[in-house]
Amino acid sequence: EGSHRLMRAVSDVEVNEPHAKITIVGVGQVGMAAAFSITTQGLASELALVDVVADKLKGEMMDLQHGLAFLKPTRIRADTDYAISKGSVICVVTAGVRQKEGESRRNLVQRNVEIFKKIIPQLVKYSPNTILLIVSNPVDILAYVAWKISGLPKHRVIGSGTMLDSSRMRFLLSERFQIAPQNCHGYILGEHGDSSVAVWSGVNVAGTHLKDICPKAGEKDDPENWEQIHQDVINSAYEIIRLKGYTSWAIGTMVASLCSAILRNQRLVYALSTLATGFHGIDQEVYLSLPCVIGEHGITHILNQNITDAEKEKLCQGANDLRSIIDGIKF
Ligand code: NAD
Ligand code: LAC
Repeated sequence: EGSHRLMRAVSDVEVNEPHAKITIVGVGQVGMAAAFSITTQGLASELALVDVVADKLKGEMMDLQHGLAFLKPTRIRADTDYAISKGSVICVVTAGVRQKEGESRRNLVQRNVEIFKKIIPQLVKYSPNTILLIVSNPVDILAYVAWKISGLPKHRVIGSGTMLDSSRMRFLLSERFQIAPQNCHGYILGEHGDSSVAVWSGVNVAGTHLKDICPKAGEKDDPENWEQIHQDVINSAYEIIRLKGYTSWAIGTMVASLCSAILRNQRLVYALSTLATGFHGIDQEVYLSLPCVIGEHGITHILNQNITDAEKEKLCQGANDLRSIIDGIKF
Protein backbone atom coordinates (compact mmCIF):
# COMPACT_ATOMS: atom_id res chain seq x y z
CA GLU A 1 0.00 0.00 0.00
CA GLY A 2 1.38 3.35 -0.98
CA SER A 3 4.62 1.79 -2.20
CA HIS A 4 3.77 2.78 -5.80
CA ARG A 5 4.10 6.42 -4.71
CA LEU A 6 7.49 5.74 -3.11
CA MET A 7 9.03 3.80 -6.02
CA ARG A 8 8.25 2.68 -9.57
CA ALA A 9 8.43 -0.98 -10.65
CA VAL A 10 10.80 -1.60 -13.56
CA SER A 11 10.18 -5.37 -13.71
CA ASP A 12 7.23 -7.65 -13.08
CA VAL A 13 9.14 -10.31 -11.10
CA GLU A 14 7.73 -11.69 -7.82
CA VAL A 15 9.84 -9.76 -5.30
CA ASN A 16 8.90 -11.92 -2.33
CA GLU A 17 10.02 -15.22 -3.88
CA PRO A 18 11.69 -17.10 -0.97
CA HIS A 19 15.42 -17.78 -1.18
CA ALA A 20 17.06 -18.93 2.04
CA LYS A 21 13.74 -19.79 3.66
CA ILE A 22 13.44 -21.58 6.98
CA THR A 23 10.20 -22.77 8.56
CA ILE A 24 9.96 -23.52 12.27
CA VAL A 25 7.00 -25.59 13.42
CA GLY A 26 6.30 -25.09 17.13
CA VAL A 27 6.82 -21.63 18.61
CA GLY A 28 7.43 -22.86 22.14
CA GLN A 29 10.60 -22.36 24.13
CA VAL A 30 12.81 -24.30 21.72
CA GLY A 31 11.26 -23.00 18.52
CA MET A 32 11.58 -19.38 19.60
CA ALA A 33 15.13 -19.79 20.92
CA ALA A 34 16.00 -21.18 17.48
CA ALA A 35 14.09 -18.38 15.73
CA PHE A 36 15.88 -15.74 17.80
CA SER A 37 19.29 -17.26 17.11
CA ILE A 38 18.58 -17.56 13.37
CA THR A 39 17.29 -13.97 13.21
CA THR A 40 20.13 -12.38 15.15
CA GLN A 41 22.64 -14.16 12.91
CA GLY A 42 20.79 -13.08 9.77
CA LEU A 43 20.81 -16.66 8.42
CA ALA A 44 17.45 -16.71 6.66
CA SER A 45 16.00 -14.43 4.01
CA GLU A 46 12.59 -15.58 5.20
CA LEU A 47 11.51 -17.19 8.44
CA ALA A 48 8.06 -18.80 8.58
CA LEU A 49 6.57 -19.79 11.93
CA VAL A 50 3.79 -22.36 12.30
CA ASP A 51 1.90 -23.49 15.42
CA VAL A 52 -1.60 -24.56 16.39
CA VAL A 53 -2.06 -21.73 18.93
CA ALA A 54 -2.90 -18.75 16.70
CA ASP A 55 -2.61 -15.95 19.29
CA LYS A 56 0.72 -17.08 20.64
CA LEU A 57 1.98 -17.50 17.09
CA LYS A 58 0.99 -13.97 16.11
CA GLY A 59 2.43 -12.54 19.32
CA GLU A 60 5.79 -14.26 18.81
CA MET A 61 5.90 -13.14 15.17
CA MET A 62 5.19 -9.50 16.06
CA ASP A 63 7.70 -9.49 18.91
CA LEU A 64 10.47 -10.77 16.60
CA GLN A 65 9.48 -8.42 13.77
CA HIS A 66 9.77 -5.41 16.08
CA GLY A 67 13.52 -6.01 16.47
CA LEU A 68 14.17 -6.18 12.73
CA ALA A 69 15.29 -2.56 12.36
CA PHE A 70 18.41 -3.56 14.30
CA LEU A 71 19.08 -6.83 12.48
CA LYS A 72 19.98 -8.07 9.03
CA PRO A 73 16.98 -8.13 6.67
CA THR A 74 14.74 -11.13 7.33
CA ARG A 75 11.11 -11.51 6.30
CA ILE A 76 9.24 -13.01 9.26
CA ARG A 77 5.78 -14.45 8.75
CA ALA A 78 3.52 -16.75 10.73
CA ASP A 79 0.36 -18.73 10.17
CA THR A 80 -1.44 -21.81 11.41
CA ASP A 81 -1.81 -22.77 7.72
CA TYR A 82 1.16 -24.67 6.30
CA ALA A 83 0.89 -22.78 3.00
CA ILE A 84 3.09 -20.20 4.78
CA SER A 85 5.96 -22.74 4.73
CA LYS A 86 5.96 -23.06 0.91
CA GLY A 87 9.43 -23.27 -0.64
CA SER A 88 11.42 -23.78 2.58
CA VAL A 89 15.01 -24.97 2.24
CA ILE A 90 14.85 -26.19 5.84
CA CYS A 91 11.86 -27.11 8.02
CA VAL A 92 12.71 -27.31 11.72
CA VAL A 93 10.23 -29.27 13.84
CA THR A 94 10.15 -28.34 17.52
CA ALA A 95 6.44 -28.95 18.06
CA GLY A 96 5.03 -31.28 20.65
CA VAL A 97 5.04 -32.05 24.32
CA ARG A 98 8.14 -31.74 26.45
CA GLN A 99 9.21 -33.61 29.59
CA LYS A 100 7.77 -32.76 32.98
CA GLU A 101 10.18 -32.81 35.91
CA GLY A 102 11.71 -36.30 36.20
CA GLU A 103 9.99 -37.60 33.04
CA SER A 104 12.06 -39.39 30.37
CA ARG A 105 12.18 -38.30 26.73
CA ARG A 106 11.05 -41.76 25.63
CA ASN A 107 7.82 -41.30 27.60
CA LEU A 108 6.72 -38.61 25.11
CA VAL A 109 6.87 -40.89 22.12
CA GLN A 110 3.29 -41.79 21.18
CA ARG A 111 1.93 -38.28 21.89
CA ASN A 112 4.53 -36.67 19.64
CA VAL A 113 4.20 -39.34 16.93
CA GLU A 114 0.49 -38.39 16.69
CA ILE A 115 1.50 -34.74 16.23
CA PHE A 116 4.11 -35.67 13.61
CA LYS A 117 1.50 -37.54 11.58
CA LYS A 118 -0.25 -34.18 11.11
CA ILE A 119 2.83 -31.98 10.63
CA ILE A 120 5.21 -33.90 8.36
CA PRO A 121 2.90 -34.48 5.34
CA GLN A 122 2.00 -30.77 5.33
CA LEU A 123 5.63 -29.70 5.31
CA VAL A 124 6.51 -32.06 2.44
CA LYS A 125 3.42 -30.99 0.50
CA TYR A 126 4.56 -27.36 0.43
CA SER A 127 8.34 -27.96 0.29
CA PRO A 128 8.96 -31.29 -1.48
CA ASN A 129 12.73 -30.69 -1.66
CA THR A 130 13.16 -29.51 1.91
CA ILE A 131 15.55 -30.73 4.58
CA LEU A 132 13.68 -31.75 7.73
CA LEU A 133 15.49 -30.92 10.94
CA ILE A 134 13.82 -32.74 13.82
CA VAL A 135 14.27 -31.50 17.38
CA SER A 136 11.15 -32.72 19.24
CA ASN A 137 11.71 -35.60 21.64
CA PRO A 138 12.44 -38.44 21.69
CA VAL A 139 14.44 -37.01 18.82
CA ASP A 140 15.98 -40.23 17.42
CA ILE A 141 12.63 -41.98 17.18
CA LEU A 142 10.84 -38.93 15.83
CA ALA A 143 13.53 -38.34 13.19
CA TYR A 144 13.05 -41.96 12.08
CA VAL A 145 9.26 -41.51 12.06
CA ALA A 146 9.62 -38.26 10.08
CA TRP A 147 11.84 -40.06 7.55
CA LYS A 148 9.23 -42.80 7.13
CA ILE A 149 6.21 -40.46 6.94
CA SER A 150 7.88 -37.92 4.65
CA GLY A 151 9.18 -40.27 1.97
CA LEU A 152 12.22 -37.96 1.69
CA PRO A 153 15.66 -39.48 1.14
CA LYS A 154 17.44 -40.27 4.39
CA HIS A 155 20.12 -37.61 3.92
CA ARG A 156 17.38 -34.94 4.00
CA VAL A 157 15.83 -36.00 7.33
CA ILE A 158 18.08 -35.16 10.25
CA GLY A 159 17.69 -35.30 14.02
CA SER A 160 19.60 -32.82 16.20
CA GLY A 161 20.63 -35.92 18.16
CA THR A 162 23.67 -35.83 20.43
CA MET A 163 25.01 -32.57 19.01
CA LEU A 164 23.65 -31.06 22.22
CA ASP A 165 25.09 -33.80 24.46
CA SER A 166 28.49 -33.40 22.74
CA SER A 167 28.38 -29.64 23.22
CA ARG A 168 27.55 -30.11 26.89
CA MET A 169 30.48 -32.49 27.21
CA ARG A 170 32.85 -29.99 25.55
CA PHE A 171 31.73 -27.28 27.95
CA LEU A 172 32.29 -29.53 30.98
CA LEU A 173 35.70 -30.59 29.63
CA SER A 174 36.56 -26.92 29.18
CA GLU A 175 35.71 -26.24 32.81
CA ARG A 176 37.97 -29.07 33.95
CA PHE A 177 40.88 -28.23 31.59
CA GLN A 178 40.40 -24.46 31.84
CA ILE A 179 40.61 -24.32 28.04
CA ALA A 180 37.96 -22.86 25.70
CA PRO A 181 35.19 -25.31 24.69
CA GLN A 182 36.04 -24.63 21.03
CA ASN A 183 39.40 -26.36 21.64
CA CYS A 184 38.07 -29.29 23.69
CA HIS A 185 37.08 -32.01 21.25
CA GLY A 186 34.91 -35.00 21.98
CA TYR A 187 31.81 -36.77 20.78
CA ILE A 188 28.84 -38.30 22.46
CA LEU A 189 27.03 -40.69 20.12
CA GLY A 190 23.97 -42.95 20.11
CA GLU A 191 20.63 -41.95 21.58
CA HIS A 192 20.17 -38.33 22.63
CA GLY A 193 19.87 -38.59 26.38
CA ASP A 194 19.88 -41.45 28.82
CA SER A 195 21.62 -44.23 26.83
CA SER A 196 24.13 -42.00 25.00
CA VAL A 197 27.70 -43.25 24.45
CA ALA A 198 30.67 -41.02 25.34
CA VAL A 199 33.62 -41.72 23.03
CA TRP A 200 36.39 -41.27 25.58
CA SER A 201 38.93 -42.77 23.17
CA GLY A 202 38.55 -39.68 20.98
CA VAL A 203 38.58 -36.87 23.56
CA ASN A 204 41.51 -34.58 22.77
CA VAL A 205 42.88 -31.06 22.97
CA ALA A 206 45.11 -30.05 20.07
CA GLY A 207 45.54 -33.72 19.12
CA THR A 208 46.67 -34.75 22.60
CA HIS A 209 44.31 -37.52 23.65
CA LEU A 210 42.94 -37.59 27.19
CA LYS A 211 43.49 -41.38 27.11
CA ASP A 212 47.26 -40.82 26.59
CA ILE A 213 47.53 -38.76 29.76
CA CYS A 214 44.76 -40.50 31.77
CA PRO A 215 44.62 -44.08 30.39
CA LYS A 216 41.61 -45.01 32.54
CA ALA A 217 39.49 -42.02 31.44
CA GLY A 218 35.85 -43.08 31.07
CA GLU A 219 36.37 -46.45 32.80
CA LYS A 220 34.80 -47.58 36.07
CA ASP A 221 38.11 -47.79 37.96
CA ASP A 222 39.36 -44.37 36.78
CA PRO A 223 40.78 -42.64 39.90
CA GLU A 224 40.04 -39.26 38.28
CA ASN A 225 36.42 -40.19 37.47
CA TRP A 226 36.20 -38.52 34.04
CA GLU A 227 33.01 -40.51 33.40
CA GLN A 228 31.33 -38.11 35.84
CA ILE A 229 31.30 -35.60 32.96
CA HIS A 230 29.19 -38.00 30.88
CA GLN A 231 26.86 -38.61 33.82
CA ASP A 232 26.52 -34.83 34.26
CA VAL A 233 25.68 -34.52 30.55
CA ILE A 234 22.97 -37.18 30.93
CA ASN A 235 21.60 -35.39 33.99
CA SER A 236 21.80 -31.91 32.40
CA ALA A 237 18.33 -31.79 30.88
CA TYR A 238 16.72 -33.26 34.03
CA GLU A 239 18.49 -30.68 36.16
CA ILE A 240 17.70 -27.71 33.89
CA ILE A 241 14.04 -28.81 33.65
CA ARG A 242 13.91 -29.02 37.47
CA LEU A 243 15.48 -25.55 37.73
CA LYS A 244 13.77 -23.59 34.92
CA GLY A 245 11.12 -25.90 33.47
CA TYR A 246 12.58 -26.50 30.01
CA THR A 247 15.83 -26.27 28.02
CA SER A 248 16.09 -23.77 25.19
CA TRP A 249 19.19 -21.62 24.63
CA ALA A 250 21.75 -24.33 23.87
CA ILE A 251 19.45 -26.23 21.51
CA GLY A 252 18.33 -22.98 19.87
CA THR A 253 21.95 -22.06 19.19
CA MET A 254 22.59 -25.51 17.72
CA VAL A 255 19.58 -25.35 15.40
CA ALA A 256 20.93 -22.05 14.06
CA SER A 257 24.40 -23.63 13.50
CA LEU A 258 22.77 -26.49 11.59
CA CYS A 259 20.77 -24.06 9.45
CA SER A 260 23.95 -22.13 8.70
CA ALA A 261 25.77 -25.35 7.75
CA ILE A 262 22.98 -26.23 5.31
CA LEU A 263 22.31 -22.80 3.81
CA ARG A 264 26.02 -22.04 3.37
CA ASN A 265 27.07 -25.60 2.46
CA GLN A 266 29.68 -25.49 5.22
CA ARG A 267 30.34 -29.25 5.44
CA LEU A 268 30.69 -29.17 9.20
CA VAL A 269 31.01 -32.33 11.29
CA TYR A 270 28.44 -32.73 14.04
CA ALA A 271 27.02 -35.68 15.97
CA LEU A 272 23.58 -35.93 14.35
CA SER A 273 20.80 -38.45 14.34
CA THR A 274 20.75 -40.31 11.04
CA LEU A 275 19.98 -43.76 9.67
CA ALA A 276 22.76 -45.74 11.38
CA THR A 277 22.22 -49.18 9.86
CA GLY A 278 25.51 -50.81 8.86
CA PHE A 279 27.76 -48.68 11.06
CA HIS A 280 29.71 -50.14 14.00
CA GLY A 281 27.80 -53.44 13.76
CA ILE A 282 24.33 -51.85 14.01
CA ASP A 283 22.01 -54.13 12.07
CA GLN A 284 18.70 -52.52 13.09
CA GLU A 285 16.91 -49.90 11.01
CA VAL A 286 17.17 -47.01 13.47
CA TYR A 287 18.17 -43.39 13.66
CA LEU A 288 20.84 -42.52 16.20
CA SER A 289 23.76 -40.12 16.31
CA LEU A 290 27.07 -40.60 14.56
CA PRO A 291 29.56 -37.92 13.43
CA CYS A 292 28.09 -36.61 10.15
CA VAL A 293 29.18 -34.16 7.47
CA ILE A 294 26.40 -31.65 6.88
CA GLY A 295 25.97 -29.20 4.00
CA GLU A 296 23.42 -28.04 1.43
CA HIS A 297 22.26 -31.58 0.60
CA GLY A 298 21.87 -32.54 4.24
CA ILE A 299 24.01 -35.38 5.61
CA THR A 300 26.31 -36.58 2.83
CA HIS A 301 28.89 -38.60 4.82
CA ILE A 302 29.24 -40.42 8.13
CA LEU A 303 32.73 -40.52 9.62
CA ASN A 304 34.40 -43.92 10.02
CA GLN A 305 35.24 -43.12 13.63
CA ASN A 306 37.71 -45.40 15.35
CA ILE A 307 35.77 -46.40 18.46
CA THR A 308 36.47 -49.21 20.94
CA ASP A 309 34.66 -52.55 21.06
CA ALA A 310 33.00 -51.53 24.32
CA GLU A 311 31.73 -48.30 22.70
CA LYS A 312 30.44 -50.30 19.70
CA GLU A 313 28.65 -52.68 22.04
CA LYS A 314 26.92 -49.79 23.82
CA LEU A 315 25.86 -48.28 20.47
CA CYS A 316 24.38 -51.62 19.36
CA GLN A 317 22.55 -52.00 22.68
CA GLY A 318 21.10 -48.48 22.25
CA ALA A 319 20.08 -49.35 18.68
CA ASN A 320 18.25 -52.47 19.91
CA ASP A 321 16.43 -50.43 22.58
CA LEU A 322 15.40 -47.75 20.09
CA ARG A 323 14.21 -50.38 17.61
CA SER A 324 12.01 -52.05 20.20
CA ILE A 325 10.38 -48.67 20.95
CA ILE A 326 9.84 -48.07 17.21
CA ASP A 327 8.26 -51.52 16.91
CA GLY A 328 5.81 -50.57 19.68
CA ILE A 329 4.53 -47.33 18.14
CA LYS A 330 1.71 -46.85 15.66
CA PHE A 331 2.34 -44.56 12.70
P1 NAD B 1 6.77 -25.96 24.38
O1 NAD B 1 5.64 -26.61 25.08
O2 NAD B 1 7.32 -24.69 24.90
O3 NAD B 1 6.39 -25.73 22.83
C1 NAD B 1 5.81 -26.71 22.04
C2 NAD B 1 5.02 -26.00 20.95
O4 NAD B 1 4.50 -26.99 20.05
C3 NAD B 1 3.82 -25.21 21.49
O5 NAD B 1 3.86 -23.86 21.05
C4 NAD B 1 2.62 -25.95 20.92
O6 NAD B 1 1.52 -25.10 20.66
C5 NAD B 1 3.23 -26.53 19.65
N1 NAD B 1 2.45 -27.61 19.07
C6 NAD B 1 1.84 -28.64 19.72
N2 NAD B 1 1.19 -29.41 18.84
C7 NAD B 1 1.39 -28.88 17.61
C8 NAD B 1 0.99 -29.23 16.31
N3 NAD B 1 0.21 -30.28 16.07
N4 NAD B 1 1.38 -28.45 15.28
C9 NAD B 1 2.13 -27.36 15.50
N5 NAD B 1 2.57 -26.98 16.71
C10 NAD B 1 2.19 -27.73 17.75
O7 NAD B 1 7.93 -27.07 24.31
P2 NAD B 1 9.50 -26.81 24.07
O8 NAD B 1 10.15 -26.61 25.39
O9 NAD B 1 9.66 -25.80 23.01
O10 NAD B 1 9.94 -28.25 23.54
C11 NAD B 1 9.52 -28.70 22.28
C12 NAD B 1 10.04 -30.09 22.00
O11 NAD B 1 11.47 -30.03 21.85
C13 NAD B 1 9.80 -31.11 23.13
O12 NAD B 1 9.47 -32.38 22.58
C14 NAD B 1 11.13 -31.16 23.85
O13 NAD B 1 11.31 -32.36 24.54
C15 NAD B 1 12.06 -31.05 22.66
N6 NAD B 1 13.45 -30.65 22.95
C16 NAD B 1 14.42 -31.31 22.27
C17 NAD B 1 15.74 -30.99 22.48
C18 NAD B 1 16.80 -31.74 21.74
O14 NAD B 1 17.99 -31.62 22.03
N7 NAD B 1 16.44 -32.56 20.76
C19 NAD B 1 16.09 -29.97 23.37
C20 NAD B 1 15.06 -29.31 24.05
C21 NAD B 1 13.74 -29.67 23.84
C1 LAC C 1 17.68 -31.53 26.28
C2 LAC C 1 16.32 -31.90 25.77
C3 LAC C 1 15.29 -31.85 26.83
O1 LAC C 1 17.91 -30.35 26.60
O2 LAC C 1 16.31 -33.10 25.08
O3 LAC C 1 18.55 -32.42 26.37
